[in-house]
Amino acid sequence: EDAALLQRFQERIDAEERIEPNDWMPEAYRRTLVRQISQHAHSEIIGMQPEGNWITRAPSLRRKAALLAKVQDECGHGLYLYAAAETLGVAREEMVEQLLAGKAKYSSIFNYPTLTWADIGAIGWLVDGAAIMNQIPLCRCSYGPYARAMIRVCKEESFHQRQGYEIMLTLCRGNGAQKEMAQDALNRWWWPCLMMFGPPDAASQHTDTSTRWKIKRFTNDELRQKFIDATVPQAHFLGLTVPDPDLRFDEATGHWAHGAIDWEEFRQVVAGNGPCNAQRMERRRRTEEDGAWVRDAARAFAEKEKSRHRA
Ligand code: ACO
Repeated sequence: EDAALLQRFQERIDAEERIEPNDWMPEAYRRTLVRQISQHAHSEIIGMQPEGNWITRAPSLRRKAALLAKVQDECGHGLYLYAAAETLGVAREEMVEQLLAGKAKYSSIFNYPTLTWADIGAIGWLVDGAAIMNQIPLCRCSYGPYARAMIRVCKEESFHQRQGYEIMLTLCRGNGAQKEMAQDALNRWWWPCLMMFGPPDAASQHTDTSTRWKIKRFTNDELRQKFIDATVPQAHFLGLTVPDPDLRFDEATGHWAHGAIDWEEFRQVVAGNGPCNAQRMERRRRTEEDGAWVRDAARAFAEKEKSRHRA
């Protein structure tokens, strides 16, 4: 690629200019964005499953309405993101095919089961809390369509985080069994949430380039630390214990120091061996098959409309 074009491109990035779909961009920049945005889209779509699992069992009509709306929001996020990826010249059908073929990654977090109602609170509080921490900086991503999609997504995610925390608060102010359920959910979701931010910086293959291109504004470890610092006081307010015996506030740095993360567990889940990977993929494929008649009917209808206009 032309060195002058590359230099001009980096100057635009350094000057905080947004790169738009028809602008020149290095092939590797395009590839990185397609990789990250499509993985992000798949995560939103697969992420509907663990929470969808509780729609029919929500403890009240009000809880059910909120959960139903939240799961629909996640679907909407997936759609904005597929549309943002499409501006880079990749077809949505192709991305979906890669997911169904098991060739595309999606966030490790959605391969854990939702065993009790408290898990719905913990997902909103912790999983959506982690997602916001990661996505707020993406609102300033150098690629325009991705950055703009993130603004809307973050507004909705903040609401999701609040509704999750409010479920936790209600359980923690309830009876002993309810508080225990909340603690158990925190115990199971805490470590997987820390893994959402990706491998430690030293092992993150894409961070350097993505930071230079201002796709990423913070490293994985920086965002993980911000999340821990924001979340530990919230756990204390709930009267819950973070399941990390090594967690302690470091006066010198002003941060919460945490214990070692089990990166072998992360590798296993990303490799497809997590507790629910097979179930999530099976469900996604079955849903795709079950919906085939709708797509066929829509296509046939569109054809009919077209021929009517021609006539
Ligand atoms: N789960 C699954 N795969 C992961 C995870 C994770 N939690 N974290 C990192 N990986 C993968 C990366 O995708 C990359 O794989 P690839 O090379 O095959 O594409 C590999 O591990 C190495 O990681 P990094 O070099 O650190 O990758 P990257 O610079 O892309 O950083 C991150 C990972 C932070 C997840 C980044 O891609 C990102 O910010 N994505 C957008 C946010 C997102 O996808 N959120 C989804 C969950 S939130 C939600 O849906 C509610």
